[in-house]
Amino acid sequence: MNLTTHYLGLELKNPFVPSASPLSRNIDTCRRLEDAGASALVMYSLFEEEIMAEAEHLEHLWEYQDIGQCETDSFLPVHYEYRTREEEYLEQLSALKSALEIPVIASLNGTTPKGWTEHARDLQEAGADALELNIYYVPTDLSESGQAVEDRYIEILKRVRKHISIPVTVKLSQQFSSPGHFIKQLEAAGADGVALFNRFFHPDLDLEKLEVTSVLTPSTPQEALLRLHWIALIHNRVKLSLAATGGIHSANEVIKILLAGADVTHLCTTLLQHGPERIRTIQQGVENWMERNEYKSVEQLKGSVSQMNAMDPAAYERTNYMEILQSYQPK
Ligand SMILES: Cc1cc2nc3c(=O)[nH]c(=O)nc-3n(C[C@H](O)[C@H](O)[C@H](O)COP(=O)(O)O)c2cc1C
Repeated sequence: MNLTTHYLGLELKNPFVPSASPLSRNIDTCRRLEDAGASALVMYSLFEEEIMAEAEHLEHLWEYQDIGQCETDSFLPVHYEYRTREEEYLEQLSALKSALEIPVIASLNGTTPKGWTEHARDLQEAGADALELNIYYVPTDLSESGQAVEDRYIEILKRVRKHISIPVTVKLSQQFSSPGHFIKQLEAAGADGVALFNRFFHPDLDLEKLEVTSVLTPSTPQEALLRLHWIALIHNRVKLSLAATGGIHSANEVIKILLAGADVTHLCTTLLQHGPERIRTIQQGVENWMERNEYKSVEQLKGSVSQMNAMDPAAYERTNYMEILQSYQPK
């Protein structure tokens, strides 16, 4: 059984890639991911916002220290001992590169044009095999058009692309009015891949305190269907690499997403819930299914039920919507 796949110009031994999560903060956990079969690893994101907040805080702290409050001085971190968030991230990246044989993909969430480019360059220098841009932008200004939001993404990508030579992929939200068209634009602007779709958390309301709350809810396999749909629609219509992220919990979702046309499947919630060894179970399930269905390789499997290759391409389109509604039998 040949599980080899190609993603962002890298040859990977299989399509099981842990996506950005706290799991990559621990080297031993990452070794377990690799031992269980992970073919590459996406690190948690380096957040520029965090770096900036920290820089402001430190500036204040050093200023205060310089005034010379003798007693409090001893409680403050000494300049040379202090590691900034970025230094910590770069150290973790180098440590992962030394500890693992699989490619390590860094992840960046920037906020300023300078931040996107400078941090991207630092990540490349620290040895990242590729870079995932985790662009998280909520257009709260009601006068900003969808086109302006898309231009913002393209601008970030072009800037980063100009400053680094490693492959760059963009992790997208699902909230674009014409994802296929936008992905083609990203491709033209130099993206080597896209990851569909990031899963953002929505504010909730506490009905007792009347406060806005934020909770992290685990994804469900149902969420993989949105990813399957868009991957099936764009497979073979773009040349860049396709990763699916969101709701991939078992071998079933992995197989479906590969049939739709993804090059890799990103795993997160399922690994947080079941541990790194979950990859082994998923791989076993995929291999069993391939054997039963006489597939010899993942390359042969990829995209074999994308819209272009499906027996009924219209099933991915609007006609199906009407049929589903009309065939519903109320209880
Ligand atoms: C606890 C947690 C931390 C995450 N951290 C990041 C991150 O730093 N950067 C990022 O791009 N995505 C991050 N994600 C998103 C995941 O990589 C993934 O895209 C998303 O959870 C959907 O996949 P899933 O359904 O398998 O969880 C995080 C998700 C969780 C649950």
